[in-house]
Amino acid sequence: MTTLSPDEAKRAAAAEAIKLVRPGMKLGLGTGSTARHFVDLLGGLVAAGLDVLCVPTSEETRAQAAALGVALTTIDAEPELDLTVDGADEFDDSLRLVKGGGGALLREKIVATASKTMVVIADVSKHVEIMGKFPLPVEVTRFGLEATRRLIRARAEEAGCAGEIVLRDKGPGQPFITDNGNFILDCHFGALPRPEQLAQDLSAIPGVVEHGLFIGLAKAVICAGPGGIEIFG
Ligand code: 5RP
Repeated sequence: MTTLSPDEAKRAAAAEAIKLVRPGMKLGLGTGSTARHFVDLLGGLVAAGLDVLCVPTSEETRAQAAALGVALTTIDAEPELDLTVDGADEFDDSLRLVKGGGGALLREKIVATASKTMVVIADVSKHVEIMGKFPLPVEVTRFGLEATRRLIRARAEEAGCAGEIVLRDKGPGQPFITDNGNFILDCHFGALPRPEQLAQDLSAIPGVVEHGLFIGLAKAVICAGPGGIEIFG
């Protein structure tokens, strides 16, 4: 058996997902290194004549897809999509996801929610038994940062988790700014015993724009590892 490197596994998952694409589909394009493989493969099909219309979930993905000649539109012009293919920072057996490691979680959630089907592509390192191995990203407004951080901490404690809440930076003293002009707080909570409660409670905080818990959105996860492709869901 050939052992795939993590990057080869990401490409293998993307290659499996590309089989779901049909001519005329409206697609959501995810963000991150795994989604990048999907967009790259899609670009190859488009060059060979495939006709699809796509909504990217970040400026980074927009630039990649545009450079490959993929026809692009916006979620306002096409508010109903057939299929979104995106990566994840982690997923569990119930197809609950943590996303936002690349900072695109808000657009990713809007696009996934607007899609009839969301399929996640991942390498096996993303599969977890208990959610929370990856720090939970939360997109917040710049106004009221400390008040919002305090409320996140309080709601997290009520949902059975605690830990450092760190403002994401893109360099020393330079906060990371999302495509929507917001900050990201990375919540190092460790295990999330009640992700549904946490998701609901985080959404109720005024300064929280969106959080990286994607629950009930993914229809399947295509996961590639040393043993080949495994499909969850
Ligand atoms: C970006 C995301 C990505 O899908 C997630 O971070 C996974 O990235 P990668 O495929 O590079 O591991 O949610 O906001």
